[in-house]
Amino acid sequence: MANIPEERTALVTGAGGGMGRDIARQLLARGLRVGLADLNPAGLEETAPAADPRVIHIAGDLTRDGAPEAAVSAVLDRWGRIDVLVNNAGYGVIEPFLDMTRQAFERTFAINVTALAMLTTAAGRAMKDAGGGRIVNVTSPASRMALPNYAAYAASKAAVDSITRAAAVALAPHGVLVNALAPGMMDTEMQRTTEAVLAKIEGRTDVEAFLAERTRRIPLGRRAGVDEVAASVVWLALDAPAYMTAERLNMSGGLDKD
Ligand SMILES: NC(=O)c1ccc[n+]([C@@H]2O[C@H](COP(=O)([O-])OP(=O)(O)OC[C@H]3O[C@@H](n4cnc5c(N)ncnc54)[C@H](O)[C@@H]3O)[C@@H](O)[C@H]2O)c1
Repeated sequence: MANIPEERTALVTGAGGGMGRDIARQLLARGLRVGLADLNPAGLEETAPAADPRVIHIAGDLTRDGAPEAAVSAVLDRWGRIDVLVNNAGYGVIEPFLDMTRQAFERTFAINVTALAMLTTAAGRAMKDAGGGRIVNVTSPASRMALPNYAAYAASKAAVDSITRAAAVALAPHGVLVNALAPGMMDTEMQRTTEAVLAKIEGRTDVEAFLAERTRRIPLGRRAGVDEVAASVVWLALDAPAYMTAERLNMSGGLDKD
């Protein structure tokens, strides 16, 4: 695999931890300059120090009005171009269906859907002007499952799939490819927190056995490595054939089969 010419740039959201950290580091290793956006400034520093000239830190809440557009502008102001956008930042909370709260719905949709849509349009406009680019949205197998204890999250990821298709068609005439990637179960902060709450709601005290049962349901019989899922995001962002757009790629070990 050839390295990308050094002038290419990317913006990765949720780059202060979890899979976003691996995505950002893999893009840097491929020779891109990368804008790292996250709520957590210390996490950004751990991903790649702000002193690195190939990096900018964009610390703050992407759900604030104007924050998605400002994140894209930060990359454009520094390097004059944006070739890749990875919409990876996400949030989810387990709640039993009949006890769902407005607060959980709003918080989930604000980052997973609204911020993602605004980032896509802001980057899409710059990519249109430049005549090309690639956008990768991180979705989830949850978007097509019936998950009564995780309904807001699942619905938000169904919206991600919908926005991916709409953006792919809107941006196709301008040489911009928009695809989605559905990770399987990875051992990240998000997954640890949600499964612990799920175990509690399902009345399970033997959390380790509960987790092992869930792992056994994955046809490949193991959880996904964060690095291998990140590699597939980077493949879509840099290497996938130029005829691939509006695609949803499953990296779930056979969990999601459509
Ligand atoms: N972990 C899994 O098993 C799994 C499975 C399927 C899909 N996903 C998806 O993969 C993506 C990455 O998940 P992860 O497991 O690495 O999660 P994570 O919680 O470990 O990391 C998410 C990152 O996004 C950042 N973030 C959250 N809200 C933000 C906001 N409002 N503004 C700026 N940054 C914000 C967090 O600070 C964090 O660094 C998410 O879109 C998630 O829905 C994860």
